[in-house]
Amino acid sequence: MSGVPLPPDSVGLLEGLTTTRAIRRYHDEPVPEEALRAILFAATRAPSGSNRQPFRFIVLTDGPNARAAKELIGAGGRRIWGGKRSADQYEQASGAVADSPKARMARTMQEFVDTFERVPVLILPCLVRYRDPTPSEGASVYPACQNLLLAARALGYGGVFTGFNFTVDAELRALLGVPDTTFIAGTITLGRPVGHQGPVRRRPMPELVFGDSWGEPAPWAIDPPGTAFTSAGPPRSTATRQG
Ligand SMILES: Cc1cc2nc3c(=O)[nH]c(=O)nc-3n(C[C@H](O)[C@H](O)[C@H](O)COP(=O)(O)O)c2cc1C
Repeated sequence: MSGVPLPPDSVGLLEGLTTTRAIRRYHDEPVPEEALRAILFAATRAPSGSNRQPFRFIVLTDGPNARAAKELIGAGGRRIWGGKRSADQYEQASGAVADSPKARMARTMQEFVDTFERVPVLILPCLVRYRDPTPSEGASVYPACQNLLLAARALGYGGVFTGFNFTVDAELRALLGVPDTTFIAGTITLGRPVGHQGPVRRRPMPELVFGDSWGEPAPWAIDPPGTAFTSAGPPRSTATRQG
């Protein structure tokens, strides 16, 4: 079977890297197979240790397995978000002000989990293990996940990586026939974004990049003009299961 060339892409690499946001709201339209092919091609070009390529992707759109997986993972997501919403006090302080970033985030998250069964595409990135788990094994699957999200961005789609699958791991394995030796490494949802991509908000470089030793400023590590900054993490400084 002969292949099909990759579609054209008008987003520069650096622009794409710095403007790919977590997209949790999607139009109710399917992602065409041509786009999925290019997005998954980019994912499968990711690096891995010894080029072993232990990553696999289960791509679920419609059909009985897709519906069942979306229901399972949606229920997991609702449980996780419900816990995080109260643990991180999303209703308190500025969260009680309807137009605050915290309240907007809470609404987006609530809508995301409430309508999870309607996400156009659900992708389960997996890692085929060939040895006992190691701290760095994720480095052979998560770069592929980011390639996938960046390729989606390049073609006008968007998505988000979540850990919603972890609470329903056994049920998912049984449903999709995933062997015990394979790690289901996360959940990626994809679709045509409602809302916009744009510059991501991150801490300023001097907080994140060091020079000669730990904590030592690197004089050249300065953000480009107009960079938007944010403090790290969820509203309160609690560590929770969600990323
Ligand atoms: C390891 C990891 C776990 C994540 N888990 C979740 C999750 O469970 N639910 C969710 O809605 N987003 C999740 N995200 C998305 C992050 O919340 C998001 O990338 C982050 O808040 C920055 O937002 P931005 O990419 O729009 O700038 C996760 C991202 C990563 C890398």
